[in-house]
Amino acid sequence: MGFVRAVKETTPYDGQKPGTSGLRKKVTVFKQPRYVENFVQATFNALGEKVKGSIIVVSGDGRYFSKDAIQIIIKVAAANGVKQVWIGQNGLLSTPAVSAVIRNRVGPDGEKATGAFILTASHNPGGPHEDFGIKYNTENGGPALESLTDKIFSITKTINEYYIAEGIADVDISECGTSTFSGPDGPFSVVVFDPTEDYVNLMKHIFDFGAIKSLLSRPDFSFCYDALHGVAGIYAQKIFVDELSADPSFLLNCVPKEDFGGGHPDPNLTYAKELVHRMGLGKTDPIEEIPEFGAAADGDADRNMVLGKRFFVTPSDSVAIIAANAVGAIPYFEGGLKGVARSMPTSAALDVVAKALNLKFFEVPTGWKFFGNLMDAGMCSVCGEESFGTGSDHIREKDGIWAVLAWLSILAHRNSQAPSGGKLVTVEDIVRVHWATYGRHFYTRYDYENVDAGAAKELMAYLVSLQSSLSDINRIIKDVNPDVPSVVKGDEFEYKDPVDGSVSKHQGIRFLFEDGSRLVFRLSGTGSEGATIRLYIEQYQSHTSKIGIESQVALAPLVEIALKLSKMEEFTGRSSPTVIT
Ligand code: G6P
Ligand code: ZN
Repeated sequence: MGFVRAVKETTPYDGQKPGTSGLRKKVTVFKQPRYVENFVQATFNALGEKVKGSIIVVSGDGRYFSKDAIQIIIKVAAANGVKQVWIGQNGLLSTPAVSAVIRNRVGPDGEKATGAFILTASHNPGGPHEDFGIKYNTENGGPALESLTDKIFSITKTINEYYIAEGIADVDISECGTSTFSGPDGPFSVVVFDPTEDYVNLMKHIFDFGAIKSLLSRPDFSFCYDALHGVAGIYAQKIFVDELSADPSFLLNCVPKEDFGGGHPDPNLTYAKELVHRMGLGKTDPIEEIPEFGAAADGDADRNMVLGKRFFVTPSDSVAIIAANAVGAIPYFEGGLKGVARSMPTSAALDVVAKALNLKFFEVPTGWKFFGNLMDAGMCSVCGEESFGTGSDHIREKDGIWAVLAWLSILAHRNSQAPSGGKLVTVEDIVRVHWATYGRHFYTRYDYENVDAGAAKELMAYLVSLQSSLSDINRIIKDVNPDVPSVVKGDEFEYKDPVDGSVSKHQGIRFLFEDGSRLVFRLSGTGSEGATIRLYIEQYQSHTSKIGIESQVALAPLVEIALKLSKMEEFTGRSSPTVIT
């Protein structure tokens, strides 16, 4: 079959600015005529020379509108001289799997993909009236850096034409196989492949599947994995059930749905309700058969939440515990860790591990791309964020299933060291031993979602102005609660990338207390409506007698200070947050 390249006139759309995680808007916005075409053409224009003869990956979390977008992108790619488009069967590929495909999959002549359009709005709901997104990832498998996304945005503002292949019928993406067409630049093909293949191979190379399999086969071990109807389900089925022989009843919501079953595919204590219930959190009455281990993923499977029986592992603790246990439990890290990193609002639990193990340590702004730079330079092996993202340098995205396999590996390793025939070493045991060794960082995050954008800006500006006087800050604190330690420093976080020297400013407002406690305020970069204010509250405790108290109890005084200091209710009109994690 042949096609011709048609040049179509277009006019720019406002606001096609890719954020931290790509262009994310309501489906109704994406459905406007030429909206997808403009953005994809602008991306190809920004990539320039690299496009002709390249291989481009296109797939995502399977949310509503993905299938339409895939057909459009195939045609725009063909007309721009792309040689091959690689698509996961049914248009599915998790974000970490895309990263693995870009880095590892090879074409017929041994060539690799140049980049990928990932079709996802991550943890945001999906459906005709919900969110869609397009994110471009580059050669290293990571999200495009700001230099590229700025260029794309500036092109979208003046775009007046796009190319599209005419004469190509819609490609059947429900079956694996190759469709080839002849075009003005030579043959063009669409390759549909098994979306689990590259990713599963990579996981087998990183982890000891035999050891995990033995853990899963213990009669006293049970597990529940909730994919929240996102794309993680297909990987969970393949890895946990087909490869590791887990009981299929361990899988919850593992069939991907275009609208995530009407839910909010975000793995946290608020939205992963069914899992939280099964794991017995918030209940004191004895429930039969609570699984020993629970985990969930977001829509595109890069986020994770880890739970034990009636026990929540904070993401900040999770990365610290993985870093502390990686060598010995995970074959990929046999040679040691090159370094570790966390985002600024993430608790300092990882810092303590880095210090104790004498590891290179980095504190970066929120956003996975900052880790990517460190990893490309060989400076970081394990990293994580409070926003339920954990990962390593095996790819350049955070990785939800990887985090679960890391935890299963640690559980398997600890149990293999325990006396045989003894009681199971649980998630809670591992966390409590960690706290006893390194101290505990009590941590919570308050989210005020969909706040008036002007009010949110005013609150942030007020906090910055407050920071000019430490004595004013401490006066407010002492008035509220004289027992709370003083603030010794207030600033806006700024980061100079040690690899490329770039400087990122205004990355969050920090109040640092003399006992190491912290309050951080930042505006979310991923919302699609109004503004979301995030308040992060952290307190370090190394006294063994105090480590076991309830997190909400330990943090209550700091929460009160944070709300008073920021005049949260006055600015936002909200007396309580929408989500607490
Ligand atoms: C995405 C990024 C993460 C980041 C998170 C922050 O998930 O991939 O690296 O931590 O957004 O979101 P926020 O809404 O707090 O800006
Ligand atoms: Zn995600």
